Amino acid sequence: MQKNKVYIETYGCQMNLADTEIVRGILQNKGFDRTDSADDADIVLLNTCSIRENAEQRIYGRLGNFKNLKGSKPELVVGILGCMAERLRKNLVEEKSVVDLVVGPDEYRRLPELIEVAYNGDKGIGVKLSKTETYDDIIPHREDGLQAWLSVMRGCDKFCTFCVVPFTRGRERSRSLASIVDEVKQLAERGFKEITLLGQNVNSYRDNNSDFANLLAACAEVDRTMRIRYTTSHPQDLSDKLLITIAEHQNICNYIHLPVQSGSDRILELMNRTYTIDHYLKLIEKSRKNIPGVSFSTDIIAGFPTETYEDHVMTLDIMREVKYDGAYMFKYSPREGTKAYRMKDDVSEETKSNRLHEIIDLQQQISFEKNQELLGTDEVVLVEGLSRKSDEFYAGRTDTNKVVIFPKKNEIAQGSYVSVKINKATHATLFGNFVDIADVANDNLALIA
Ligand code: 5AD
Ligand code: SF4
Repeated sequence: MQKNKVYIETYGCQMNLADTEIVRGILQNKGFDRTDSADDADIVLLNTCSIRENAEQRIYGRLGNFKNLKGSKPELVVGILGCMAERLRKNLVEEKSVVDLVVGPDEYRRLPELIEVAYNGDKGIGVKLSKTETYDDIIPHREDGLQAWLSVMRGCDKFCTFCVVPFTRGRERSRSLASIVDEVKQLAERGFKEITLLGQNVNSYRDNNSDFANLLAACAEVDRTMRIRYTTSHPQDLSDKLLITIAEHQNICNYIHLPVQSGSDRILELMNRTYTIDHYLKLIEKSRKNIPGVSFSTDIIAGFPTETYEDHVMTLDIMREVKYDGAYMFKYSPREGTKAYRMKDDVSEETKSNRLHEIIDLQQQISFEKNQELLGTDEVVLVEGLSRKSDEFYAGRTDTNKVVIFPKKNEIAQGSYVSVKINKATHATLFGNFVDIADVANDNLALIA
């Protein structure tokens, strides 16, 4: 009997979610089956994240569970994929005897072969990084749905001093525009309504003469009823051409994730972020001028080495100034191999926690105030399905990525666009009533014409 049922758990960023679908595509081509139960699996794969220490701690906890499972099922193959595989390499199999497979982000094509090695009782290890691998020709295995991730480039060349990604995912490289557009076409035909183009720094996308603005436009033109999102943008590379492209296409979402990391120029320099707060604020102003109604989210790190109380206050200041619609907020976590790792991690755990709490509290207040401004307005919502809390309500999202809850209407199908009048708002959610079906495609044609 062939042992081939694969169970995969995915941790970390959206790029890992997209990679898991690539891995599923590769394994499916070689005749492996999927299972959604670890107990039922012959092979368990964890697609891992190394971005902060606590991400890795979770994986170690999970490996403990699989050690127990393997106790009762010795032939089970346990594999680590993703950033932790790349970072820890052979150490993983040496320190964690439960691990049979260690496969980094650029070696997934070798998975079938490495699984065979593990079946034969050896350890399967593939951790070389590549300058060219983009999995351009692999069709990711996606379940049917409305929303799809699509990675357009891999790796990162920015070398922010706190970040392990350039070491775990290697050098920056882009997929071909033609293959990305083809994939978008296939997704449109399958009824997907929202595509998120992924890359560590999408603004440096390049395929011959095409840059990221060209790519976005080409994707948006595939199907005007399909929303196009993208993440992540780097403040150094966000071009005027890109802003104009977003403004010109109604189905490119008016939402920019633009990590600021800190409000202090001194800290930004130590982070090697290569922009100043002045540059960043001008970019926000220019975006708001070119793209009316654009919303912003950001990433913020509290307690980078040498961060003083004054630096921290500057972070709070920029949050108040930009008024982000949302933020991902973290405590600084030293990562071995990075430049910042060599600096003394001199902000105490308690101070990091206090600063992070202040940042989170402020963001909640700002999000609440921004959402209150939407009371009484009509928002175009892509209906995603029933709300998590009640079958009597639908949940969907605005173009600016805000969740909207409204009473269910049987005549409205998932994947429709509707107009909803907002009558209540918390910091996280908008509530309202159905007004009408929104004629998104026609709006677009009017705008382009
Ligand atoms: N410590 C804390 N946060 C980090 N990030 C990246 N590396 C670290 C680290 N060592 C955050 C940054 C980045 C986001 C994806 O994760 O804010 O933008
Ligand atoms: Fe890490 Fe900076 Fe690259 Fe983002 S841009 S992945 S934070 S090195």
